[in-house]
Amino acid sequence: MTARSVFSGIHKHVPIVGDITLKSPFAYRATRLIAGALNLTQMAFAEAYINGLEIPDSVLCAIMDSSMSTLFKHFPSLMAPYEWVLNESDHLAESSPELMKLQYDLPQTMLNSMLGDWDVIYPKYSMGLWENGAIDLEQSQMHMIDQVIERLGIVDGDHILDFGCGWGCVANYIMSKFPKVRFTGLNLSHQQCEYMRGKMNDPQSFLSGGRFTLHEGDFNEAQFGEKFDKIISIGFFCHVGNLTNALQKLSSFLKSDGKAFIHIFTVRTPNNVSSGFTHKYIFPHGRYWNYDAVPNCNRDLKTIDRWYINGTNYQKTFAAWLQRFDQSQETFKHLDYGMDYAKFRRIWRFYLLLLGTAIGSCEGEYNGNGQYLMTHV
Ligand SMILES: C[S@@+](CC[C@H](N)C(=O)[O-])C[C@H]1O[C@@H](n2cnc3c(N)ncnc32)[C@H](O)[C@@H]1O
Repeated sequence: MTARSVFSGIHKHVPIVGDITLKSPFAYRATRLIAGALNLTQMAFAEAYINGLEIPDSVLCAIMDSSMSTLFKHFPSLMAPYEWVLNESDHLAESSPELMKLQYDLPQTMLNSMLGDWDVIYPKYSMGLWENGAIDLEQSQMHMIDQVIERLGIVDGDHILDFGCGWGCVANYIMSKFPKVRFTGLNLSHQQCEYMRGKMNDPQSFLSGGRFTLHEGDFNEAQFGEKFDKIISIGFFCHVGNLTNALQKLSSFLKSDGKAFIHIFTVRTPNNVSSGFTHKYIFPHGRYWNYDAVPNCNRDLKTIDRWYINGTNYQKTFAAWLQRFDQSQETFKHLDYGMDYAKFRRIWRFYLLLLGTAIGSCEGEYNGNGQYLMTHV
């Protein structure tokens, strides 16, 4: 079956009982009940793996792939394990302190080795673009940022704000190409900010030389004394609970003729999606927004263009991360994760296999990444 023929059926998919958005009392409650029961089953399976269940990766991935493709194609409403996944919450960024502890402030030796750390491409924790012929992870990340440059229309001299800027990879690469571009990065992860401070003191890095300003802080409290020509945010909005208010906040930092570019995990199903496993172990309150959520939640900004990037690009990225993760066990096992290493390793292997499989299932046509180009209304 070709990718196109898989996608052509998407609009026919309905929740298991009734239309989940209507909340017709019986249909809605029945759907929630079944989604909850499915989540318990999936969690039991995940916990069994974490606690030592021996199962070859190929078998694990085959089980994940067949259940994912059935759910994506026929029962997408069951992929919202909790009610909060379906709706916006009262918060901007959600569960930020827990997220830093569980994920972004983990030992950097582990994260950096897994993600890759090269001369210009610093660790980048988001999709690489493989479909243009990239031969390795580093090149896939270059291709992805090249595409961002083109789609956002970056020109030399721009002052760019990067929300959730990771290790400064996007800023470093773009500044290597544009000698007068300036960047301001916002990130709550202390460990990642320490990495960037190191680079800001390294004459070899484009983060040094005064063109990069770093704000260590939470998006929820972020304030800037100036407005920006361009705003970039890659892989951050899955941590946002209230998209409407978050986009409103983002627009307040954009110049009147500026452009904003958001790159997120997305699903081409009628509802948002999440996973009980990733909520508990990897990304607390992480939501994978439905592809229409960003345009639908925009008030002060309008989406002038958007792109769906096929999930197989992320599947390959996850596979590269897993390979690097597996190759570095001798180093990784001596680091402090706040838990027994064997357990940590199994949680992370399950995570990399699960997300890699989910995003590659149905030939990447349901679960991929979305890019949105926005201007002021
Ligand atoms: C998936 S990573 C993507 C990083 C980077 N954009 C990239 O592509 O490599 C998400 C980033 O958002 C940051 N982040 C998460 N929640 C945040 C918050 N509440 N305020 C500021 N940064 C946050 C994380 O520390 C991390 O750097």
